Amino acid sequence: MASTKLSKILYGGDYNPEQWDRSVWPEDMRMIRLAGMNIATVNVFSWAMLQPNELTYDFSTLDEIMDMLHANGIYACLATSTGAHPAWMARKYPEILRTDFEGRKRKFGGRHNSCPNSFVYRTYSTRLAGKIAERYKDHPALLLWHISNEFGGECYCDNCAAAFRSWLRNKYGTLDKLNEQWNTRFWGHTFYDWEEIVPPNMLSEQWSSRHTCFQGISLDYARFNSDSMLECYKLEYEELKKHTPDIPVTTNLMGAYKPLDYFKWAKHMDVISWDNYPSADTPYSYTAMMHDLMRGLKDGQPFLLMEQTPSQQNWQPYNSLKRPGVMALWSYQAIAHGADSVMFFQLRRSVGACEKYHGALIEHVGHEHTRVFRECAQLGGELARLGDKLLDSRIDAKVGIIFDWDNWWAIEYSSGPSIALQYTDEVHKYYDALYQHNIAVDMVGLDADFSQYDVLIAPVLYMVKPGIAKRLEQFTANGGTFITTFFSGIVNENDIVTLGGYPGELRKLLGIWVEEIDALFPDQKNRIVMNRPLGSLTGEYECGLLCDLLHSEGAEVYASYGDDFYKGMPVLTRNRFGQGDAWYVATSPEASFLQSLLGSICAERGILPILQPQAGIEATRRIKNGQAYVFVLNHNAEEQTIELGSVKGMELLTDSHIEGQAVIAARGVLIIEEQ
Ligand code: GLA
Ligand code: ZN
Repeated sequence: MASTKLSKILYGGDYNPEQWDRSVWPEDMRMIRLAGMNIATVNVFSWAMLQPNELTYDFSTLDEIMDMLHANGIYACLATSTGAHPAWMARKYPEILRTDFEGRKRKFGGRHNSCPNSFVYRTYSTRLAGKIAERYKDHPALLLWHISNEFGGECYCDNCAAAFRSWLRNKYGTLDKLNEQWNTRFWGHTFYDWEEIVPPNMLSEQWSSRHTCFQGISLDYARFNSDSMLECYKLEYEELKKHTPDIPVTTNLMGAYKPLDYFKWAKHMDVISWDNYPSADTPYSYTAMMHDLMRGLKDGQPFLLMEQTPSQQNWQPYNSLKRPGVMALWSYQAIAHGADSVMFFQLRRSVGACEKYHGALIEHVGHEHTRVFRECAQLGGELARLGDKLLDSRIDAKVGIIFDWDNWWAIEYSSGPSIALQYTDEVHKYYDALYQHNIAVDMVGLDADFSQYDVLIAPVLYMVKPGIAKRLEQFTANGGTFITTFFSGIVNENDIVTLGGYPGELRKLLGIWVEEIDALFPDQKNRIVMNRPLGSLTGEYECGLLCDLLHSEGAEVYASYGDDFYKGMPVLTRNRFGQGDAWYVATSPEASFLQSLLGSICAERGILPILQPQAGIEATRRIKNGQAYVFVLNHNAEEQTIELGSVKGMELLTDSHIEGQAVIAARGVLIIEEQ
């Protein structure tokens, strides 16, 4: 959004007036303005209205909506409506319907229901995007394009099977190469004709969404499925750009959404946007990690918070209300991590179908005298006061955590060593340890420039793609601190094991050899016994999940296992490598171990917390043109007194100077313009 001159943080949300009688529209406008909003996401699910049959397009209602927004000073985040196809299209062209993981051909219904490789879907979705762009390209309300909605799911139909075969031909060139890379001699799977290859689902290679007989084919299908949807996105993107080269284009992402490789998608998005729906018991640090991941998709460029609920969801098992203050607190959490917008789903609560119990700015009662409206309006007032100060500001992190979709898929497709191994959980443990210290983190892909970090952490780097080991060696040799864990360096990009001892290509960098990997039952634990302390890291800690049995090949041993037949074997090692060092954590430790380990490593490297850690207090810093803004968020339900340390300056929500100690209200926020 950097190219657009905004005067304040975007504030608004999904708005579906076409689902309502025109008589409520003026009230909508009055209340949306009263709440201080300046943007509405419109036209998300209107395909059936815009194209009532194959030959007719009707934009009359959308024209009215766009004009109404403009007349009220509200920007449009204009969607292309291709997230759900019309019923007539499904009836006439059943090929647009998906086939699910169980192999069932779907009928019309739901949404996000089109086969991404359907020629008919691609033709009509692209045409619709083009027509919308042509019609509204000069409309004064148009600020931003929103392609489709939450791309996702999978399809296993015949269109997809054919497209998968061409994708494979393109990737491998010959069947010999494919047979070798998938190791098809296993269970006599050798393919002699491309047509013999079928999508891996419950009818073929997989016995659950996580279990496959052949990692190679399942992994490639995951890549192919993500690419297929990206292709649909790109076709619409090109149409929009033909008419409006300068209007930014986005599609709403979903955080760590497993089926789509968002690092690949981000290259084709002008601005990242995402939908944040934590549940009441989601750790704050997990939400923070998702924001940081979304910011990391485009090298730290600010993102948009496209959706969140002002009060409650409808689709979780227990849809508790956001407690007073929580909506604003979580909105500021997004801004604190790099969002340049606060947007909701939705502005007026539906009257029928499955989202009628989903929270909205305007509730069923229809007026503004509600708790939710008051909280939204208060936030609107505050955002207006902040103006453009924070827009396009950046976060300067010295620690990077690597997140990689291919690696995620491969780890969780792997049959063994443990079903309990969840990639995002392990990444989150490392993130959380830094979060508890108020140390800024970038979540980065493997393409990132590693040299901008002092510390680079790659939890469970199971898959080592070509060139990565070299780049990690360079990073470390040049003085970086690299940290990785158990079950790393095991396979190549096609899930073929690197022979000659684990951790394969990372062995030299880490100075160790992993001989065996033990999987512990959920209630089984081992101990990490420190042999030599590192800062506050001393004594003993619990560990579990997986335990690598390893030998040092030059690495210094900082801790050993305390139990079992591998008692005394190294569990924490550090290898000096060039100017830097490479740590290996051979198991999944309890939280206090990682807090002490990462706290000590950061302290050694001079990476300082933004604020001294305090339970439930989160701190971040955004910087714009040399001016820093510190956010302090109180997630506790009670008021807290905090030590500001060296942070001092003007608190922007109260317009008062603070330094030394400060009192922060329950679920309160401070935004300090640092002096
Ligand atoms: C998603 C969708 C919205 C809406 C919300 C409800 O994020 O994009 O259309 O269904 O969920 O929480
Ligand atoms: Zn399909």
